[in-house]
Amino acid sequence: MPEPQKFFLTTPIFYVNDAPHIGHAYTEVACDVLARWHRQAGDDTWFLTGTDEHGQKILRTATANGVAPKEWADRLVESAWKPLLNTINISNDDFIRTTEARHEQGVAKFLQKLYDDGHVYAGEFEALYCVGCEEFKPKSEILDGEGAFEGEKVCAIHSKPLELLQEKNYFFKMSAFQERLLQLYQDRPDFVQPASARNEVIAFVQQGLEDLSISRTSFDWGIPIPWDNSHVTYVWFDALLNYITATGYGSDDAQFARRWPGNHVVGKDILRFHAVIWPAMLMAAGLDVPEHVFAHGWLLVGGEKMSKSKLTGIAPNEITDTFGSDAFRYYFMRAISFGHDGSFSWEDLHARYHAELANGFGNLASRVLAMNAKYFGSVMPTAGELLTADNAIRDLAANVTAAADAHIEKFAIHEAIADVWKLVDALNHYVQEQQPWALSKDEAQRDRLATVLAAATEGLRALAELLHPVIPLATQKLWVALGAEQALGELSSRPLREAGAWGQLPAGTELQSLEVLFPRVEAEEQS
Ligand code: ME8
Ligand code: MG
Repeated sequence: MPEPQKFFLTTPIFYVNDAPHIGHAYTEVACDVLARWHRQAGDDTWFLTGTDEHGQKILRTATANGVAPKEWADRLVESAWKPLLNTINISNDDFIRTTEARHEQGVAKFLQKLYDDGHVYAGEFEALYCVGCEEFKPKSEILDGEGAFEGEKVCAIHSKPLELLQEKNYFFKMSAFQERLLQLYQDRPDFVQPASARNEVIAFVQQGLEDLSISRTSFDWGIPIPWDNSHVTYVWFDALLNYITATGYGSDDAQFARRWPGNHVVGKDILRFHAVIWPAMLMAAGLDVPEHVFAHGWLLVGGEKMSKSKLTGIAPNEITDTFGSDAFRYYFMRAISFGHDGSFSWEDLHARYHAELANGFGNLASRVLAMNAKYFGSVMPTAGELLTADNAIRDLAANVTAAADAHIEKFAIHEAIADVWKLVDALNHYVQEQQPWALSKDEAQRDRLATVLAAATEGLRALAELLHPVIPLATQKLWVALGAEQALGELSSRPLREAGAWGQLPAGTELQSLEVLFPRVEAEEQS
């Protein structure tokens, strides 16, 4: 057996200023599909998510609500952010909060090392700050305000006025890493993905990198700078470090060596932090840079990024209460090209739910199992000689498995699902063409009927395995109905890269009937 590949995957850690909307759920689901795929394929997988709890944005929200920031964070984490993971069926291995001791200790260690090694100096600074972004904004993201903000400078992402801050800060000598970063993007063309994100990052760094202010003195909700307690750590410097403090940096060398470097999936709003600042920080500390940074697009509302601060968010359970978590996961992964912006629409969700999940996949599964019941007493029949049409299905199963795995490797989740869906469509077509109900009327065609139903049932076996990372609940029900739990073991441990190998569900396996996987949803039931 070759050494298993390792795969450490992270989501951003989200600000707890408010409850999550479907944009955050989108990132979580995408990462969950990738993590489940790799885990099921046997890769040494670790999937980390969590919350970002320090800084001015959280402090101001807590203060406005009349509670201490830690109390506010506790409340939001327990009532909103952890429950989100159940709502959309996320399989994370760990959840890090930046207020945990393991994180605060790791951050202090990292900072002290950079300070001792001469990467940090004290300086004076004045610039325009966006509390929404928690960032001193670069010129390219500063706009002239309009309407109520006429005459002020506003943030291009948050459309809110920027604040002019002047402070004595500690600075990280990030400018020293400009050439090494450019070299990195050149040597590893897939370090930043997709290509549009890579180009944006390269153009940004080529304009020239400035040093980064990494401490604040005007408030104290943050991790103290270890050599100067009158400063707290800049919230982004603190937050980025979660990826290594959660995996043993400075506390568990074996765990750290096993997990790091990781793969980061983020929204394009925070690409620069992950593709420029973060690798520069790691270079300064003498650590490996990430494996990949993938920036996905935005869910848009009226052409703008859906956002907590603009109150345009849709709560994930508004969708899952009616359609279920599988449909939520499938819809967003299938309908939006991963890496591009997309708009959510109830009409599109409703249409795809019925056409693709209920009629395309669900119906195929219940039909094939019903015919097995009717013609073979719910026992997996023995296939006879394979004809051209049967061979085509068998070959397609192998091809889509390889194609989907290659697409997942490149973070092209929508393409991977499209690959697998070719098998759903082909099986529907196959059943329609082979007409088992007609074969059943002719005793001389009994063997042919067995071959056709065996192929269709084996196709369902492959689909259950291939779609398990995307729609874990429905595929588990199908797995049980196929008798596969007894015959082949747990679905989540089925070797995904071999899902396309034909003839795995043994003849004689006892099948069961299948409840409707995706019940129809009447138009009135949706919000
Ligand atoms: O930026 N469409 O946290 P945050 C798609 N704490 N994805 C969206 C989205 C939308 N409309 N809105 C939000 C932070 N997201 C920092 C991160 S990481 C070390 C620190 C998702 O709560 C997307 O993943 O503002 C985006 O990058 C993230 O939420 C921002 O979450
Ligand atoms: Mg944000």
